[in-house]
Amino acid sequence: MNYTLEELKNLGFVDVGTDVAIHRSAVFFNCKNIHIGSRVRIDCFSMISAGKEGVYIGNNIHIAAAVLIFGGGGRVTLEDFTCLSGRVSLYTASDDYSGEAMTNPTVPEIFRKVDVGPVSLRKHALVGAGSIIMPGVTIGTGAAVGAMSFANRDVPDHEIYAGIPARRIRIRQKKLLDLEKEYLQKAIT
Ligand SMILES: CC(C)(COP(=O)(O)OP(=O)(O)OC[C@H]1O[C@@H](n2cnc3c(N)ncnc32)[C@H](O)[C@@H]1OP(=O)(O)O)[C@@H](O)C(=O)NCCC(=O)NCCS
Repeated sequence: MNYTLEELKNLGFVDVGTDVAIHRSAVFFNCKNIHIGSRVRIDCFSMISAGKEGVYIGNNIHIAAAVLIFGGGGRVTLEDFTCLSGRVSLYTASDDYSGEAMTNPTVPEIFRKVDVGPVSLRKHALVGAGSIIMPGVTIGTGAAVGAMSFANRDVPDHEIYAGIPARRIRIRQKKLLDLEKEYLQKAIT
């Protein structure tokens, strides 16, 4: 069961496009910093928390079930035609695990050392089920991250990375760029 357009407007997003299907069990924090484009689908039990830098969701985006977006540490950008598969977690902030600092948000900031950074998925980027994307990471145009991967570095354009930590598997074909042109052309005519 999805939110109605009226209900979405009342949630207080910066903007919401057309053809948007968001399941009622999806949870949002700081809607005033969340932009949602057109032809966006957000499935059940997802959570999107925006920080002051905002969460930008473009057009033709799928956020599958149980995806968690933690935007408190930097801007999150999902460009057009991107996809987060089920149970992907995307972090813009992460505590220092070295022991040099205390951890967790119940402790005052002066005792902590938090690594923060924006996370971006460029056009046509795709993240496989259960993967984790760390602060500061950009998944390049047409790039893909395999299932159950730990992406702690940028993934170059049109490459497939997978594993823990994510490493290069192979190149990803660029035919999707031609298909995009065809699709947009059809949408206009
Ligand atoms: C990454 C992926 C796209 C690679 O597919 P592929 O190109 O057919 O690759 P292969 O299966 O031939 O595997 C190539 C190598 O990468 C390894 N590999 C593949 N996927 C991996 C993964 N997710 N994590 C770690 N290693 C992986 C394989 O073990 C193999 O290693 P080897 O050469 O040492 O034997 C695919 O395995 C994957 O993870 N897809 C995600 C699917 C998904 O999450 N779907 C959700 C709905 S959209």
